Amino acid sequence: MKLVKLGSQGLQVPAVGLGCMGMSDFYGSSSESENLKVLDRALEIGCNFWDTADMYGPFTNEILLSKALAGRRDKITLATKFGVSRGEDGSWLGIKGNAAYVKSSCDASLKRLGTDYIDLYYQHRVDPNTPIEETVGAMAELVKAGKVRYIGLSEADPDIIERAHKIHPISALQTEYSLWTREVEDSILPTVRKLNIGFVAYSPLGRGFLSGKIRSRADLEPGDFRLNNPRFSEEAIKHNSQLADQVIEIAQEINVTPAQVALAWLLSRDVNLATIPGTRKIERLEQNWASQDLKLSEEQLFRLNLLINKGVEGERY
Ligand SMILES: NC(=O)c1ccc[n+]([C@@H]2O[C@H](COP(=O)([O-])OP(=O)(O)OC[C@H]3O[C@@H](n4cnc5c(N)ncnc54)[C@H](OP(=O)(O)O)[C@@H]3O)[C@@H](O)[C@H]2O)c1
Repeated sequence: MKLVKLGSQGLQVPAVGLGCMGMSDFYGSSSESENLKVLDRALEIGCNFWDTADMYGPFTNEILLSKALAGRRDKITLATKFGVSRGEDGSWLGIKGNAAYVKSSCDASLKRLGTDYIDLYYQHRVDPNTPIEETVGAMAELVKAGKVRYIGLSEADPDIIERAHKIHPISALQTEYSLWTREVEDSILPTVRKLNIGFVAYSPLGRGFLSGKIRSRADLEPGDFRLNNPRFSEEAIKHNSQLADQVIEIAQEINVTPAQVALAWLLSRDVNLATIPGTRKIERLEQNWASQDLKLSEEQLFRLNLLINKGVEGERY
């Protein structure tokens, strides 16, 4: 198993974790019993870095994880997030990061998760109306209180990362990164490298697209969030399929799956990085986990690096 040290505070995780969001929200229906089987299997194979957030569901993803954590909390490195506020009915209540909100969100997550500590607590989105010093100051108090072990940010800019890191060491930045989303390479990755902050790549399979399994909107269930995502319009799918086709071509040459190629490419990047592909299927979990053993050749990496030059149709949100 490939382990990655995230940040300077001692957090160590497997390079391939498990994104749990799709088990409860955004990507169509799923079955709780199947999800729990996936989580059981994840633990069996060593994939024990689990990613959730209070807003997934909303709230039900943390409750699902509480069922999987019960009786074996110490075996899991649990990451959750606060800051994107939602109502019980799923409504969107804005981005919040004031100190009182940070503390009450943490207590609510701990209760739902049925645990007394969170391993890695992220601010999900930066609140433009609260100074980052206040937010991270409140997160630092959670560390002091023993409720949180390490802290992280998600989708933060370099300036915010630098300011936050002065208040309390940031162990991880979680942001979207994959073969079709490489904006982080410009100034985000240089910043985390400089500050010795770990990087956690979310949506590493391009929300499933890079696996080659999504070839038209008909492949998505009604209500799937991706139907409203600009990269999944019929026109965008048509254009972006050229990228997925190249990933498939390389996968076929070496007899692995496209998802494994997409993940192995990420793991080959020159940054202290863990990735958290999401799946509701045991077979895919095992495939994704095995990608850490796949070493792509220089020639394959070269071809994958050039993919982005084909252009990606559609904004990522
Ligand atoms: N910080 C943030 O703002 C943020 C935003 C988005 C996501 N995240 C986190 O990142 C995690 C992963 O991102 P994501 O779920 O958006 O996208 P992803 O991991 O890029 O893709 C997930 C999709 O790919 C499919 N898939 C997974 N493994 C596959 C395989 N081996 N072959 C074919 N298809 C496969 C899944 O379908 P099945 O489930 O049917 O297998 C699912 O539809 C989330 O679960 C969440 O924890 C964070």
